[in-house]
Amino acid sequence: MENIIKKIYSTYAESTGIGKVADYIAPLANISPSKYAISICTIEGQKINIGDYNEPFSIQSISKVFTLSMLAPLVGEEIWESVGKEPSGSAFNSLVQLEYEKGIPRNPFINAGALVITDKLAEKFPNLDASLLQYVRELAGEQNIHFNTDVANDEYATGERNKALAHMMKSFGNFKGKVSKVFRHYCNHCSIEMTTQQLAQAFTFLANRGINPLNGKTVISPRDAKRINSIMLTCGFYDESGDFAYRVGLPGKSGVGGGIVAIIPGKLAIAVWSPELNTHGNSCRGISTLADFTTELGISVF
Ligand code: DON
Repeated sequence: MENIIKKIYSTYAESTGIGKVADYIAPLANISPSKYAISICTIEGQKINIGDYNEPFSIQSISKVFTLSMLAPLVGEEIWESVGKEPSGSAFNSLVQLEYEKGIPRNPFINAGALVITDKLAEKFPNLDASLLQYVRELAGEQNIHFNTDVANDEYATGERNKALAHMMKSFGNFKGKVSKVFRHYCNHCSIEMTTQQLAQAFTFLANRGINPLNGKTVISPRDAKRINSIMLTCGFYDESGDFAYRVGLPGKSGVGGGIVAIIPGKLAIAVWSPELNTHGNSCRGISTLADFTTELGISVF
C-alpha cells in the first residue's frame, strides 16, 4: 500500500492549476494551491503519510460527519422527519429545493441539512463548541485540534446564504434555535483545523463498525456506522456524489478547504488534502488521488 501511495503522490505532485482555491471564505483564499497530503490509518493502527500531512487545514464540510455521528446515538428515527437521506443533485448551498420541499433538507451533508443537525445538537449540549472539540479530539487521539477563529468569524459575517437557509427552515418550523446562535456553532465546527493524519485517524471508527480502534470505545452502533457510510456514499459530494462513487467506489466526505476523507469498511480511512476545487466544491486532485488508490489497490466497496 505504501508503494501505491508513493506512486500516486509522485504522479500528481505537480498537478496544480486545474481548479480554484475556495475564496468565498476570505482566509481560505490565502492557502497555497500546491499543498498536497495523503494519510492512511488502518483499523489495526498502521499509518502511511506523505506530503504536507503535518499541516492543519480547514476541514469545513468534513465536520458534518462529526456532527451527524455525535447526534446519531442521541436521537431515534424521528430525526429523518427533519432531514432526508436522499442525494440532492444540487449544489451544497442551494436554496431552491429547500423551498419546494417545505424546509426539509434532502440530506445531512448539504448545508441546510447540516444546519438542522447543528440545531439539534445545540438543544442537547449547553456548551456545544467545547463538547464538539472534545469529541473530535477523542476520535483523533490528539488534543491539538482547534477552531480557526478568523475562518469562523469571516464565515459568520458573510454567510448570508447559509443564514437564508436557516431562516427558510425556521419559517417552515424545521429549526428550533436562534439562527445567529446555531449559525455561530456551525461556522465554528466548519472552521476546525486538522491534519490529514489526524483526519484519517479520526474517521477509523467508521471503518470499524463504530468503535474507535484507539481506545476500543463505542462511538456509534454498527447500524449507525453502516448508515453514515451509506449517506457518505450517496450524498458526500453533493451534485458530484454519483461521479465520486463511479470513480472511487468508497463512502467519503469533502470540504471546501480541499480535504476529502474516504472509508474502506473493515479496513481503513484515507484522508487527502489538495486545496484546488472543481465547480462542485470538491478537491480536484483529491478525487483523482482516491480514484487511482482504489483502482491500484483493487479494493473498494464494490
Ligand atoms: O457552509 C459553507 O459554505 C462552508 N462552511 C462549508 C461548505 C463545504 O465545505 C462544502 N464542501 N465541499
